[in-house]
Amino acid sequence: MVYIGDSKEDGFLRTVAWKHGSVVLIDQTKLPNKLEYIKFDNYEQVANAIKNMVVRGAPAIGVSAAFGLALAATRSNSRTLEELFAEMYKAYEILRSTRPTAVNLVWALERVMKRAREQNNIVAVKKATLEEALKMSEEDIQNNRQMGINGACLIEEGDVILTHCNAGSLATVGYGTALGVIRAANEAGKHIRVIATETRPVMQGSRLTTFELQHDGIDVSLIPDTAAGYMMSSRKIKRVIVGADRVLRTGHVFNKIGTYQVAAIANLHKIPFHVAAPLSTFDLDSNPSDIVIEERPVEEVVKIAGNRIAPQGIRVFNPAFDLTPPEFISSIITERGVLQPPFEESLKKILS
Ligand code: MRU
Repeated sequence: MVYIGDSKEDGFLRTVAWKHGSVVLIDQTKLPNKLEYIKFDNYEQVANAIKNMVVRGAPAIGVSAAFGLALAATRSNSRTLEELFAEMYKAYEILRSTRPTAVNLVWALERVMKRAREQNNIVAVKKATLEEALKMSEEDIQNNRQMGINGACLIEEGDVILTHCNAGSLATVGYGTALGVIRAANEAGKHIRVIATETRPVMQGSRLTTFELQHDGIDVSLIPDTAAGYMMSSRKIKRVIVGADRVLRTGHVFNKIGTYQVAAIANLHKIPFHVAAPLSTFDLDSNPSDIVIEERPVEEVVKIAGNRIAPQGIRVFNPAFDLTPPEFISSIITERGVLQPPFEESLKKILS
């Protein structure tokens, strides 16, 4: 086990780090029972960690992939620039193919490759690749802190806030997007309470959101996914905040499966529904039908902690993400400001 930047130092968990020439990740499959860090020495291992959800969450997989590419470059024995780029493109493809829905993954890989292509010798490529990945990792925390400041204004004293999945420190390098807003409101002295949905089938809510908020001393309670409607209809929830895996220019939001039903019920009961996402999660070129929704293994649904809970041979659908339309979204919080509907217009303004 490798120990990195403790929560005591940062005030929050650090999920992804570069230490002594290796990538270090919290093993999220072990949470909440063990806080364990794993060291990775090659990009294939990092790709497996992304695929198997040792690391997950859109910004966290983006930065992990960038560090994976940095491993491919810095550990390469290539003698020519052509050989080095051939190795890096192979690593790029393997890392990119791990998970299809979160745009941060391809955004991060493209950014590192672009910086590498600007160099004209092996030493410079290795140096620039690592520098860019490190820069992205620091920017992730800065952007999350800024998103927190921007979004905290929306939170009122005494709010009870429902969140779905995990959009916290564990889904980013640190601090979080949706949970970053909650953290910032808490740091500003607002007394808020968080309601986390368990988020079947991978349980990011019960395993990760509750763990990290409890770890940081923020008031959190857990509900079954099936209780979200009751909690909202009985006015126990003041607002909802979630993260995103991909936001389109129209304000369509791809996020963890179940987000759509939470948003629809919030809309029905006129409960504000906010999305917190850095600009690295925006995909300005695609339309909703272009996006691939990841299908995850059947085992995630038919088993709990290794025990079978459905009959052998049962047909299973296990989509990992869904699409929430802009009409259900009250605002989208970014590091550049809070977008109000119509999102296409407000997005153009912050990007100009
Ligand atoms: O399958 P996961 O756990 O990678 O899905 C994560 C989510 O859907 C998060 O809500 C999203 O990535 C936002 S993270 C800041």
